[in-house]
Amino acid sequence: MKVWKGMLLLLLVFSVPFSALAEGGEVEVLHWWTSGGEAAAAAVLKEMLEEEGHVWKDFAVAGGGGDAAMTVLKSRAVAGNPPAAAQVKGPQIQLWGEEGLLTSLDDVARAEKWDEFIPKAIADIMKYDGNYVAVPVNVHRVNWMWINPEVFAKAGAEIPTTWAEFAEAAEKIQAAGFIPVAWGGQDWQEATVFEMIVAGVGGTDFYVKALVEADSEALGSSTMVEALKTLRMIKQYTDVGAPGRDWNLATSMVIRGEAAMQFMGDWAKGEFTAAGQEPDVDYIAVPAPGTSHQFLFNVDSFIMFKVRDPKDQEAQKKMAGLILQPEFQEIFNLNKGSIPVRVGMPEEPFDAVARRSMKDFLAGAESGDLVPSMAHEMAVMPAIRGAFLDVVTHFYNNPALSAEDAAEILANVVKASW
Ligand code: GAL
Repeated sequence: MKVWKGMLLLLLVFSVPFSALAEGGEVEVLHWWTSGGEAAAAAVLKEMLEEEGHVWKDFAVAGGGGDAAMTVLKSRAVAGNPPAAAQVKGPQIQLWGEEGLLTSLDDVARAEKWDEFIPKAIADIMKYDGNYVAVPVNVHRVNWMWINPEVFAKAGAEIPTTWAEFAEAAEKIQAAGFIPVAWGGQDWQEATVFEMIVAGVGGTDFYVKALVEADSEALGSSTMVEALKTLRMIKQYTDVGAPGRDWNLATSMVIRGEAAMQFMGDWAKGEFTAAGQEPDVDYIAVPAPGTSHQFLFNVDSFIMFKVRDPKDQEAQKKMAGLILQPEFQEIFNLNKGSIPVRVGMPEEPFDAVARRSMKDFLAGAESGDLVPSMAHEMAVMPAIRGAFLDVVTHFYNNPALSAEDAAEILANVVKASW
């Protein structure tokens, strides 16, 4: 009888998942990390949370840049049923804070001393009314150009550092039978390239005036006209398959050697990494033309919604704490292509691209060239960003609209949505 009881107990122990045994809670996590590199990075967080005995309920909403995910999040919140955690970034964290739906993470922040290793500028974005309501994950640099060196070599082209050099290189690449630029024809991707151009063509002060302060004079200026003309100039070097193309499919065109380059943030590096490619061997990453000293930053973060069950609350806090642990910061960012948001992390595990990012981040903070990304929700509230995206994509896709008229529309429309 005793033997039977013992066996029954053993059976029970092995058939119950570890999480349930540990009586952990559950965190439903809304995110948009579905590409190869992104999914590998998200899996790190899931595994670590599950190792702690909690359950990760995956709520992935595909769509680069996260616009689809934000729409879904709003409808869940309106229905009174938001997920426990959601990937939400930048100034809009304040909007969620105002709704009164967020859990304060202050106790975790205090216990783990977040203020000691999160750069103040980033910590401020994570706080609502002085309290931590979001946890930052990483720092992405937006203004990168991803290059297939073999294609460049076959075409006899040089890596460009200015837009004039870009046009020269693109001509040679096209003549050699390759697609010069792998283009993802979606509004947020077009805005991503647009903002790199604005930074390069206009300089940092102009970037801030136009895309952070949404200053009508800057938006309607001849510098803006030049930036828009540059954006349009690139179009002739893209392929007919560009409209609607996802960013990671564009990256794979560069990986496969179909296209010579892509302008994209360093989440693209996650795709090269997932494909087993190495920087300076299989691909080269350099800042977009004219932006070598600038760092357009994009910080991913999670907000946590109030949940009732104490076990679920515990799981949420655990997840928030894990995100800033050195071990997570290292493995996650290696997969994601970004750099740790936690300062003081060792550089050794990171490759040359990440190290350059780390260096340029600090230098940019010193010189004033560290600026928030408009396209990636770091600079302005969603309504203004939406206005930017609409005009930029409309201009890019409508040859009949002149750069002069588009700049004027930008100045008016953005002002109206301020
Ligand atoms: C960005 C986000 C990144 C990224 C990219 C493409 O807005 O910050 O984490 O993966 O979108 O989906």
